[in-house]
Amino acid sequence: MTDTPKPLRSSRSYGKLDRDGFIHRSWIKGTGLPDHVFDGRPVIGICNTWSELVTCQHHLRDLAEYVKRGVWEAGGLPIEFPAMSLPETQMRPTAMLFRNLLAMEVEESIRANPIDGVVLLGGCDKTTPGQLMGAASVDLPTMVVSSGPMLNGKFEGRDIGSGTDVWRFSEAVRAGEMTLADFMKAESGMSRSNGVCNTMGTASTMASLVEGLGMSLPNNAALPGPDARRRTLAHLTGNRIVELVKQDVRLSQILTREAFENAILVHAAIGGSTNAVIHLLALAGRVGVPLALEDFDHLAREVPLLVNLMPSGKYLMEDFCYAGGVPAVLKELSGHLRGGAVTVTGHTQAEIAEAAECYNRQVIGTLAEPFGPSSGVWIVHGNLCPDGALLKPSAATPSLLTHRARAVVFEDIEDYKARIDDPDLPVDETSILVLKGCGPKGYPGMPEVGNMALPRKLLAKGVRDMVRISDARMSGTAYGTVILHVSPEAYAGGTLALVQTGDEIEFDGPNRRLELLVDDAELGRRRRVWEANRPPSDFTRGWYKLYIDTVLQADKGADLDFLVGKSSPDVMRESH
Ligand code: FES
Repeated sequence: MTDTPKPLRSSRSYGKLDRDGFIHRSWIKGTGLPDHVFDGRPVIGICNTWSELVTCQHHLRDLAEYVKRGVWEAGGLPIEFPAMSLPETQMRPTAMLFRNLLAMEVEESIRANPIDGVVLLGGCDKTTPGQLMGAASVDLPTMVVSSGPMLNGKFEGRDIGSGTDVWRFSEAVRAGEMTLADFMKAESGMSRSNGVCNTMGTASTMASLVEGLGMSLPNNAALPGPDARRRTLAHLTGNRIVELVKQDVRLSQILTREAFENAILVHAAIGGSTNAVIHLLALAGRVGVPLALEDFDHLAREVPLLVNLMPSGKYLMEDFCYAGGVPAVLKELSGHLRGGAVTVTGHTQAEIAEAAECYNRQVIGTLAEPFGPSSGVWIVHGNLCPDGALLKPSAATPSLLTHRARAVVFEDIEDYKARIDDPDLPVDETSILVLKGCGPKGYPGMPEVGNMALPRKLLAKGVRDMVRISDARMSGTAYGTVILHVSPEAYAGGTLALVQTGDEIEFDGPNRRLELLVDDAELGRRRRVWEANRPPSDFTRGWYKLYIDTVLQADKGADLDFLVGKSSPDVMRESH
């Protein structure tokens, strides 16, 4: 990481005194830039996923202005450009279908333009991984500024959490314990400021892992969206990215195997979203770091659950911020951290941890007094999921982590919705609910439906959790004994496709096993029937077709097969 004398990448466009240089400079001077800024200073792209379609990224235009201040102050030239926003709560059939499209857009926007370094502005669940994956495939100096969480939700004088309380309230309405009027009233108090979900859902998990990976300044994850200190963080990021360009510190120098191991340790300590597993696997694939599904389980065994946040605990992201945020977690993890991992700050993770403090032990526990046992995710295998499946034990019911029972099977989400509340559904509280057709190819896009709501007749009896198995994902804000990401998925011919109502399934969480107790001869017979009756795909054109034809399974990160890895940031040919 030494100062480099070689000309910057942008000089190949703005440093030329010929017709090409004229074209590149003239058409950007039209935005109001004077001659003297084309003096060879670093050009910093600000990749902004601002949108009015969701509150998560609604304030990013404002935040971008503070990044620009910092870039100008440090002697760089800031240029903001858009990238598609992925509003988790608005996009259909699921925002995950478009994560890889965002990654493609970000990658080619960075590569094609005269940019020396990048600041990624994003927040909602899929934007952070999508932007990082795209940037990783170009490999310029890169930093992240996240949206920051919303303020705590409020309802009838108490705190309520994004997503987590939606699931609770809707179950309460279905069970007749909450009126529809109160349900509607809670809606306005849940999301009452800019920022991402205020629970430790996928967005805040990914922002926390950004810190664990070393890709942002400290406190990026927890400072609330409306907090003035987030603007300050944006300003300081603008300062720092100019230095990273001058020192030629590329993203691949930060995203090492040690960085990913730190991120997995943080993930376990915060009780992070199951979605992060898919995103980290995909990101590792882009930078060429060997990372396997099993790494999450093995590394997570090193640390207990330290953070008492919904959905695994009680508090919200605003509380986490005031308690010390991710740096305070890193401090607790000091003995386990790969402390020598260098971050974009120029400091190692050990140095960041050393400087941190915890201000509230109700929110951030210690290794000696954690909030729960070893958390993270459990990776299970067996004939029902030969390539793996996962479960978040901190969000599950302990007594269900070992369970043998008969399956009640739904062939797809429409079948589930049509029958789940049927009084004649052959289900009781010991049953295992199985949902097919919700994997990357099958839905398509692998939606967050794995935490399927329980049958109304069981809710009325007071049942609040059951073992549920699917090839879907679940929201990072959700909870329950939910086995997700079954690979291969049903649509791709996984054993899941062959399960029938009445089959026995054995889940042995402590030994990480998930077995369909049907003999091989019978499974072979069912497979032949399944293959003979497989319907043609409904998706024959556009992004859907490209996605279905090329998406990898969940255990590989659900990237498109031809996007794994990276290309040079160089573009050899001129445009005119
Ligand atoms: Fe954007 Fe939850 S909907 S972070």
